Amino acid sequence: MDPFDVLGVDPDADDAEISRAYRQRVKETHPDQGGSREAFMQLQQAYAAVREGKVELNEDGSIADSTDEADAAARSEPQGPPPGTSRMEYLDYDVLADYGWEIDDDDLFEAASNADLGPGEYGRLLVDHDETLLEAAERCGFAWPYACRGGACANCAVLLREGEVEMANSHVLPEGMVEEGIRLSCLCRPRSDELQVVYNVKHLPGLDELRLPSQQF
Ligand code: FES
Repeated sequence: MDPFDVLGVDPDADDAEISRAYRQRVKETHPDQGGSREAFMQLQQAYAAVREGKVELNEDGSIADSTDEADAAARSEPQGPPPGTSRMEYLDYDVLADYGWEIDDDDLFEAASNADLGPGEYGRLLVDHDETLLEAAERCGFAWPYACRGGACANCAVLLREGEVEMANSHVLPEGMVEEGIRLSCLCRPRSDELQVVYNVKHLPGLDELRLPSQQF
């Protein structure tokens, strides 16, 4: 295995290029993103070998056999989300009524994971720490509701069931709603490894009145 090939960089790439390439490849290979465990583990091995300077070149310039440390890295299972990302488990509010679930059911996400829901309704995805929940969903091909993308309309509201996010200032949500876990996905960036989010909650009592027609934006 040539670790530089796995990362998609030249052998003389600098740290910034390697780090960028790694983060991009993580998105492509992580099992939560539709990749395979094998591809993800091979990427971890390649990244560890390159970052720790364990890549040795043969006299002809080819890559020498991998080291014991790199092999150990390859055998390890992916644990938490990759560095710089959070894992978000999401559920579409629209499906709750179909299954007789309530938004505050303790086992809501467990029930959702055992139900036959499509990837647009329930699943997991990785969110970069510097992108919003809405941007991450869209990057993964999902059409979550929004209108203004700037904290003025509440169309993008989600209920944060678990985890921490940082939300830029918004005067739309009353304090009581924020205390109940309502957040605006266009303004929130993840701050914990794991998140549980019910999205599409714009029709919850109280939020319906805050929404503004999307034609205004
Ligand atoms: S899209 Fe309007 S507040 Fe988020």
